[in-house]
Amino acid sequence: MRVAVIGLGHVGLVTSASLVALGHDVRGTDSDDERIALLHDGGMPFFEPGLAELVAEGTTGGRLEFTSDTASGVADAEVVFICVGTPSTGTGDANLVAVEQATRDFARNATGGTVVVEKSTVPAGTAERIRRTLRVVRPDLRDETFVACNPEFLREGRAVQDCLEPDRILVGADSPEAFEAMRRLYEPLLNKGCRLIETDIATAELAKHASNAFLALKISYSNALARLCERAGADVVSVAEVLGSDARIGRAFLDAGLGYGGYCFPKDIQAFERLAAKLGYQFPLLREVARINDEAVEAAADKVREGLWNLEGKRVALLGLAFKPDTDDIRFSPALALAERLLAGGARVVGYDPRAATNAKEALPQLEIAVDVYDAATDADCIVICTEWREFLGLDLHRLRDVMAHPFVVDGRNLLDPATMAEIGFAYHATGRPAAAPLP
Ligand code: UGA
Repeated sequence: MRVAVIGLGHVGLVTSASLVALGHDVRGTDSDDERIALLHDGGMPFFEPGLAELVAEGTTGGRLEFTSDTASGVADAEVVFICVGTPSTGTGDANLVAVEQATRDFARNATGGTVVVEKSTVPAGTAERIRRTLRVVRPDLRDETFVACNPEFLREGRAVQDCLEPDRILVGADSPEAFEAMRRLYEPLLNKGCRLIETDIATAELAKHASNAFLALKISYSNALARLCERAGADVVSVAEVLGSDARIGRAFLDAGLGYGGYCFPKDIQAFERLAAKLGYQFPLLREVARINDEAVEAAADKVREGLWNLEGKRVALLGLAFKPDTDDIRFSPALALAERLLAGGARVVGYDPRAATNAKEALPQLEIAVDVYDAATDADCIVICTEWREFLGLDLHRLRDVMAHPFVVDGRNLLDPATMAEIGFAYHATGRPAAAPLP
């Protein structure tokens, strides 16, 4: 099929390259000329495992093109995906200006027979707005343009895999034409047994927000349990194992730590709560999820303060700055939220991250950047593990202990083994676990 993708951020670029891998011809458009020039030069605007290779395959084979000219981008497309950003407004609502703009850009150049698909995470009711806009801009195409919602469930760091081997595909639509086009588009995945869930449009829109909010709720539930375990002398990791062994609960997304970050959960939870309020339903549970998430960062900061007495003049090393491993994305990263708190208390904060250091430095210039873990740890009074990068599992812990001014580790992701840390001589504070090696 001929597909156009408007917006080449994380979702748009991964979707473009994946649809080419499924056998379609894709034109990706973005209003950012620099991004298009970078892609033409074979560069990548962000790091995502496997994506550069997939994009290169598509462009070399001539089936994936990039342009900043939406008119030529959407020309002749059978399916147009809207993948533009939906950032938070000051009030927490989803800002839908880019969605409207993309709709208008498409409408002006539409030729008829196209299915417009919203893939960006949007509040329920947005598709209806898109439809109205299409009618206003192109009343002549009233019966020839169809709308669908096909939310994306990809995770950064595993986005290519999530796109090419999804758990399920969700399509919300209200016309046979839209359902048919989406079935054709995903036929290779459906033939491999991937489940297709077809719903009305509002249901698909709401289900996406509901999924992200529920995953965040699981994380915050575990973080609240961590606070409780710390007070009761219990171990939140074992509690999560017990919970997770119940098939009705499931083990995933029960890892307590510094909490969730990234460009999805924090803004989506706010936007979902705002949507509920606009619809006349108060949903304070969502506000509580966000509060517990903030508390998780504060709890880690408290452990550092508790261990160091005064922060003033102390050197604190943060291992991991990205909001999660396998990405260079630092948006709403708990590591940076912690860094800000420690800097505000007068600490010198030095960070190391295998991928996200440049982005972190740009976002928080007071942060010092180290070239590796040992460089970060040298003369440090405390280390905080903020992101569970795999390489942190293979550290030479004896060397780490020896380069530090004081061997004190706060494990914000429960990555290391408490007994080993105690044996080597660290003061070690995990999250929600009994202190195996308390401060002297
Ligand atoms: C999330 C969802 O998982 C995707 O399904 C969704 O498509 C995406 O948002 C989106 O809406 O675009 P993502 O933000 O890439 O994906 O990352 P996750 O793997 O969900 O992690 C989110 C945050 O939760 C990270 O900061 C991670 O460290 C944290 N987390 C995750 C925990 O603190 N504990 C856990 O047990 C799991």
